[in-house]
Amino acid sequence: MLILGIETSCDETAASVVRDGEEILSNIILSQTKEHEKFGGIVPEIASRCHIEVIIPVIEEALEKGKVTLEEIEGVAVTIGPGLVGSLLVGISVAKAIAFAKGIPLFGVNHLEGHLYASSFEGKPKLPAIGLIVSGGHTELLFIKEYGNYKLLGRTRDDAAGEAFDKIARFMNWGYPGGPIIDELARRGNPNTIKFPKAIIKNGEYDFSFSGLKTSVINRVKENDQIREEDLAASFQEAIVSALTEKTIKAAKSFGVESIILAGGVAANSALREKLKSEASRFEIHLSYPSIPLCTDNAAMIAGVAYLMWKKGERASLFTEAIPNLKLGA
Ligand code: KG4
Ligand code: ZN
Repeated sequence: MLILGIETSCDETAASVVRDGEEILSNIILSQTKEHEKFGGIVPEIASRCHIEVIIPVIEEALEKGKVTLEEIEGVAVTIGPGLVGSLLVGISVAKAIAFAKGIPLFGVNHLEGHLYASSFEGKPKLPAIGLIVSGGHTELLFIKEYGNYKLLGRTRDDAAGEAFDKIARFMNWGYPGGPIIDELARRGNPNTIKFPKAIIKNGEYDFSFSGLKTSVINRVKENDQIREEDLAASFQEAIVSALTEKTIKAAKSFGVESIILAGGVAANSALREKLKSEASRFEIHLSYPSIPLCTDNAAMIAGVAYLMWKKGERASLFTEAIPNLKLGA
């Protein structure tokens, strides 16, 4: 089953050709970072305009790199949410047009489910599992019984984990997106220099909160501008990583699972990968995470989920619409 995946939920225009949910024949990602950089965050209007300009060439490149023609494609998968409505609509319109013109099935995929699927390309994680999705727009802890069956355990009450990285980097004038920059700076810093408050909610069992941490970092810098940037980055990162790790391990133990799936853009963070891996191994829990290029937004993960939908006989209609606040296991 040869599926063309299309992903335009945020600021990456992506297309990919995947065979049988396993073999990635091509994975084209055109990032709009340069367009949004000067604003320190994503501007929805600019994002949708950029998608319109490049979506067709990106799909053509995915077919060319995958060495397949549109005639050989047997299904089209597209992200229907969550995301920016104007951005989602671009991908959905193109996917519907291809499905209609070629008479092939259309699959409407939840972006978050895509992130969870991403680690399956390098070995199938054992299920049931605990899933931690951490990205620029999401911080969600889930119990995954099987693909398609999720229970939401906790989420962020305010900023997403990636958003916290981006906001601090913006405040410090370090650049955008902040995650990879802070990850790099933190490697040369001491995480124990400043004890920031942990990004957790006391009463909410599995919920997170990152805005208090953000304010605390900003206040600290205003009080003392002599702190080494590397130490600040490492201490801030440590506060996020320890909160994410603590709650994820707690959930894994309480649900008695043998596996944890880490997903989303922040899953690329080296400290989070290391800490979660070493904590999980203490309890003989296996941790899966995607390779770095598959952590951030891509269309291979969308085509991967669509393959599971195809096997279950699930299809989207040509009247499918964008669902900007689509949930997973709500
Ligand atoms: O999954 P993604 O590409 O887009 C969303 O669906 O949001 O995630 C992007 C987010 C950004 O906030 C970025 O700063 C963060 O992932 N990110 C990282 C790292 N690489 C990307 N955060 C921490 N450490 C990294 N190495
Ligand atoms: Zn994403």
